[in-house]
Amino acid sequence: MTTKYQILKLLEESDGKLVSGGDIAEKLSISRTAVWKQIAALQQDGYRIISEPSKGYLLQPSNVLSAYEIEKRLTTHTVARPVLYFPTIDSTNTYAKTHTELENGTVIVASHQTAGVGRLSRKFHSPEGQGVYLSILLHPDMIAMADISTITLLTAVAVVDTIEQLSGVRPDIKWTNDVYLHGRKLCGILTEATVEGESGVIRNIIVGIGLNLYQTYEDFAPEIRDIAGSVFSETGKKISAADYVACLSKNFERYYLDEHFPANKASFLQKYKDALFFLGQTVQVISVRETYMAVAEDIDENGCLIVRKEDGTVAALNSGEISLKIPR
Ligand code: BTN
Repeated sequence: MTTKYQILKLLEESDGKLVSGGDIAEKLSISRTAVWKQIAALQQDGYRIISEPSKGYLLQPSNVLSAYEIEKRLTTHTVARPVLYFPTIDSTNTYAKTHTELENGTVIVASHQTAGVGRLSRKFHSPEGQGVYLSILLHPDMIAMADISTITLLTAVAVVDTIEQLSGVRPDIKWTNDVYLHGRKLCGILTEATVEGESGVIRNIIVGIGLNLYQTYEDFAPEIRDIAGSVFSETGKKISAADYVACLSKNFERYYLDEHFPANKASFLQKYKDALFFLGQTVQVISVRETYMAVAEDIDENGCLIVRKEDGTVAALNSGEISLKIPR
């Protein structure tokens, strides 16, 4: 552990009492100036450390996102072991796709993305310090192509569980990969895979999850202001990003590993269905070929949306090329 984090640990273990610079220096066999420099670096990272002249330092509750803060909270065995944190990155999904040598379960987390990617190659707006952007890299043993999209549904359930556990409010899911609350999108999920050309074997799966945490409506660009929200704007709670990453890792691990995906499909698809906010309603289905109104009736065992068209025929929609508009 670096000196900076050794100092942080001493402050964390002080039980709310001031810790003198001299004591820290002696314990770590470094100079008081070195202590002071590391305290300044911790403050720069976002830790609220009060310095009382000739008495010492006191750590106040702080909301910092870092690998250290996430690891401190982790209760997983595989997911987020290891966790890699970047204050800024182009895209956590791109990083995972270009570093597939990393271990199964590795999580890449960022506070800011300069080239965040959304579904259908759209840009995913990932402003600094307002949200948390992460990708989970998986090396599946044997997985069917059809199950890749089911992992998106599993992830949506894990996100909804996590937000409920941390904020007390359970969000809704909009088929297929969006998490909503009060009709506003809080979170998007993008699952990508790398396939071996010759055999068709799926080598890697990258599950990317972007969550808006702290924005107010005014923080969103005018074109999305009416449809975007954050955990804060919808629940009034400023949940800690590190708590969120640790808790989401645990929930994901439960559904994906502990309950042996895809054997547990039926149980999490039921949870997925319970969280869907438009079942029974008329929706507009937009595909490359046609646009029509239909009643959303069910989710089948493969995660397809079952709709009944106006002429009474029933269709099973795969997420691929379909967008849904839900009349407000
Ligand atoms: C969507 O709503 O269309 C999906 C958005 C997925 C965004 C996440 S943020 C973390 C990961 N990195 C990316 O570049 N994209 C995903």
